[in-house]
Amino acid sequence: MKTFLCTGLGSHTSFSSLEAVRGSAIRRTRWAGILGVALSLAPLAAFSQDAKRGEQLYMMNCAACHQPTGTGIPAVYPPLAGSPMTAGGSKRAVAIVLNGLQGPITVNGAQYNGPMQPWKAILSDDKIASILTYVRQAWGNKGTPVTPEQVKAARAEYAQRTSPLSEADLTAIADEDIKP
Ligand code: HEC
Repeated sequence: MKTFLCTGLGSHTSFSSLEAVRGSAIRRTRWAGILGVALSLAPLAAFSQDAKRGEQLYMMNCAACHQPTGTGIPAVYPPLAGSPMTAGGSKRAVAIVLNGLQGPITVNGAQYNGPMQPWKAILSDDKIASILTYVRQAWGNKGTPVTPEQVKAARAEYAQRTSPLSEADLTAIADEDIKP
């Protein structure tokens, strides 16, 4: 929410100087509208702006395989919706995204045996936090939000690791949230 509001206000400020030059009433109305929407969203803390950004990043980076509604594709790409690895303790979810995962693994009784690439060289702490905050709370998932600081701590922990996790690596990680 904070980020969105700042962006909104920032745009408004820069528009104000633009307006001084051009005096465009139409644009003013449009910005006022956007600002109004931003302010009216303020009480909707349950689905924060961070999760909204996470949704966009999810669509760009993950949805091709795990699908826009998190269902995955049977026997090929595991679901993130209803998956204990995604929505359980954040230690596991963050470790998977940073390091990647190499099958075979079982998710909700179904087997998958594909590779998922590591994302640590591609996505920043901030982006991984937003994506995981989104997927851990979307589609009925009830996971806790993930902060960039938590991803940073996990990244440091796995700094030396170059191979993807196996299912055995994963079960060796405590099923709990990363300490705030
Ligand atoms: C190219 C396809 C592909 C993309 C893109 C992809 N994944 Fe995966 N993902 C997989 C595969 C395949 C597995 C299962 C690996 C295995 O069999 O061990 C997996 C497993 C997972 C798991 C653990 C299993 C589960 O069901 O919870 C999580 C969590 C996950 N991916 C999250 C993500 C996130 C977040 C992104 C985006 C940053 C992403 N994936 C992008 C293919 C992909």
